[in-house]
Parts: sequence; C-alpha cells; structure tokens
Amino acid sequence: MEPKPETKGIKLEYKILKDNFSRAGEASSNIKKVLRQLGIESSIIRRVAIATYEAEINIVIHSYGGMIYVYIRPDRIEIVAEDEGPGIEDIKLAMQEGYSTASNKVRELGFGAGMGLPNMKRSSDDFEINSVKEIGTKVKMTMYL
Ligand SMILES: Nc1ncnc2c1ncn2[C@@H]1O[C@H](COP(=O)(O)OP(=O)(O)OP(=O)(O)O)[C@@H](O)[C@H]1O
Ligand SMILES: [Mg+2]
Repeated sequence: MEPKPETKGIKLEYKILKDNFSRAGEASSNIKKVLRQLGIESSIIRRVAIATYEAEINIVIHSYGGMIYVYIRPDRIEIVAEDEGPGIEDIKLAMQEGYSTASNKVRELGFGAGMGLPNMKRSSDDFEINSVKEIGTKVKMTMYL
C-alpha cells in the first residue's frame, strides 16, 4: 500500500551541541550533500543550506543544544530546528535585521550580525517561529519543490 503523502519521504536528523563552533556547519553541509544526491534543484538546495546553516549556528550560539530535522517530501522540504534554551523574549525584535544579543567573543568569531533569522525567513516559502522563555525555541521552515 502507498504511504500517505504526509508520511512519504526521507527524514534526516542532527543533534546540535551548544558552543561547538568547530563542528558548526556540519549538519547543513550534510543536508546539502544529501539533497544533491537526490537531484534536488540547486536553487532550492542553496536556500535550504542558508536556512539550516543559520538555524544550526543559532542553536550553537544562543541555546543549550537542540535538534535539526529535515523532511524531504514529494512536494516540499520541511526543516524543524528546536532547542532547549533561554528562548526569545521579543520575537518581533529578534526578527529585525541587525538585532543581536551575541557576545563580543562570538562576534570575534564572525557571528552576531543579526542577520540569521531574517535570512532564514527570506530563504523559506513558509516560516514559523515559536519560543517560550526559559524553555526553548522552535523554528519551522518550508521550501516548496
Ligand atoms: N535559538 C535561539 N535561542 C535563543 N535566542 C535566539 C535563538 N535564535 C536567535 N535568538 C535571538 O535572536 C537574535 C537574532 O538572531 P539572528 O540569528 O538574526 O542574529 P545573530 O544570531 O545574533 O547573528 P547572526 O545570525 O547574523 O550571526 C539573537 O541575537 C538572539 O538574541
Ligand atoms: Mg544567528
């Protein structure tokens, strides 16, 4: 029997550790590789790579650790990034270009321009963010194929 369209597809999952700058970017590189192997259109791969990279770095920098899930469905790619962490008090403010609470140490490493969330939104067809203070943050992004 054919699986339902909702359940059809491939699921990738990555554990992202807090403060792990040396391995940051590995999940998004692997996702890119898998999408290439599947023959996904390169413009979609580029958008997924930006979205997952920024999500990965945000978990490394701003959370206590989390997961990235990628669901490759017949008609779309869904990305879910969820973490345990301090959460985001004011999502509207966090979504503004240039807004960042990154420390000087993190800025010296080249992060903290305050462009991650706006770029994630721009790269997605659908973008949802939910955050609960002292619990964590969940971002869901969809790219239609
Ligand atoms: N997963 C998260 N948990 C807690 N706070 C977050 C999370 N993601 C983003 N934020 C908050 O939202 C702000 C804006 O995030 P955004 O990704 O746009 O910029 P940044 O991470 O500070 O810098 P950049 O992404 O340009 O390196 C962050 O500085 C942080 O305060
Ligand atoms: Mg960021």
